[in-house]
Amino acid sequence: MTTISAPAVAHGELRGLVTRIVERAGFRDADAREIADALVEADLRGIVSHGVMHVPNLVKRTKLGLVRTTPDMKVLAESASVARIDADRAAGFIAAARAMDTAIAKARATGVGAVAVTNSTHYGMGARYAERAARAGMIGLALANATATMPSPGGARALLGTNPISFAVPGEGDAAAICLDMGLGQVTLNSVRDAAKRGRALPEGVATANDGTPTTDPAKALDGGFLLPFGGHKGFGLAVLVEVLAGVLTGAGIGRDVGSLFVDYDRAQNTGHFLLALDVSHFCSLEQFRSRRDFLVSWIQASPRAAGAGPALLPGQREYQTRRERIASGIPLPKETAADLAVLAEELGVAVPQSLRDAA
Ligand SMILES: NC(=O)c1ccc[n+]([C@@H]2O[C@H](COP(=O)([O-])OP(=O)(O)OC[C@H]3O[C@@H](n4cnc5c(N)ncnc54)[C@H](O)[C@@H]3O)[C@@H](O)[C@H]2O)c1
Repeated sequence: MTTISAPAVAHGELRGLVTRIVERAGFRDADAREIADALVEADLRGIVSHGVMHVPNLVKRTKLGLVRTTPDMKVLAESASVARIDADRAAGFIAAARAMDTAIAKARATGVGAVAVTNSTHYGMGARYAERAARAGMIGLALANATATMPSPGGARALLGTNPISFAVPGEGDAAAICLDMGLGQVTLNSVRDAAKRGRALPEGVATANDGTPTTDPAKALDGGFLLPFGGHKGFGLAVLVEVLAGVLTGAGIGRDVGSLFVDYDRAQNTGHFLLALDVSHFCSLEQFRSRRDFLVSWIQASPRAAGAGPALLPGQREYQTRRERIASGIPLPKETAADLAVLAEELGVAVPQSLRDAA
């Protein structure tokens, strides 16, 4: 839960502000715009936990050399459909976008492009990379391993992160027809941090204390405790799957070797990403694909509903609806985020828009 402020900030203004802040932090023009787009896009969709609230920490990590503004990204291995890239501590937003572009180019030629990225950093909302493939008419999958916060079922040691899985299917316009974008924890680490800050209890069954006993106290969960995977052993199994592709295969950190974004300031994160693009046209005609995709979408949307339930949603629809609303009426930033951004902008000599001052 977050405190929502009024009035809202227009997305263009917010994007401009974040672009200028990250430019001052040393990122080049196009990279600064890519980072700002990625963060503002998350806020537009209501994914506050992966939006512009990350800017101060990104700038801090940049100053410490834990994120490089002008990384020397290198291809470590390459064949027609596959590449492995060392991101050289690039911002994950940049590393994953470039890696997906490479996957798309390979898929265009061979039908499949798979790119593994090592030595990277936090990439925020994973939908961004899967959708890059969807906009190119391809099915996209983006995986990343994250700081270890989840035990195995019944365990009392954090083994794996809430390793996000993001999957997008091309639609007719810019928006994907389907965009599943999820972390594997019952809740995100950021929402536990937020609950702790605000003195709120966690829902039952989402976290444990450091001895593995269930807790609703966010402070206990953060003090060496654990987040629980959704779906018990099944969610844990998916986290293992992501760890194999984004950690083992890439050469990045595995489990506890992946540095924590908000705790470890003495070592690079060394997270890994795995980006996959499938060019539909190599599998079947585009007409066949469209018609079969549209059948699936309408099969779900037209399904009977239980009394009182709203319409059936496809993965991604809820976020696209929020995006439309926020493009029209602005982003209701949490007060604290607006205040943090205003302070940081002033420190860096960046003009603060009045709407952000009003929201702070
Ligand atoms: N970079 C990282 O290390 C990291 C780690 C974890 C999560 N994340 C990101 O956090 C974000 C939030 O993840 P989350 O797990 O809290 O997502 P969530 O639980 O809010 O949503 C998960 C998915 O369910 C879909 N959905 C929601 N309600 C639905 C409904 N009624 N019917 C059908 N589908 C529905 C959503 O569209 C979404 O695709 C994602 O962008 C993810 O990429 C990033």
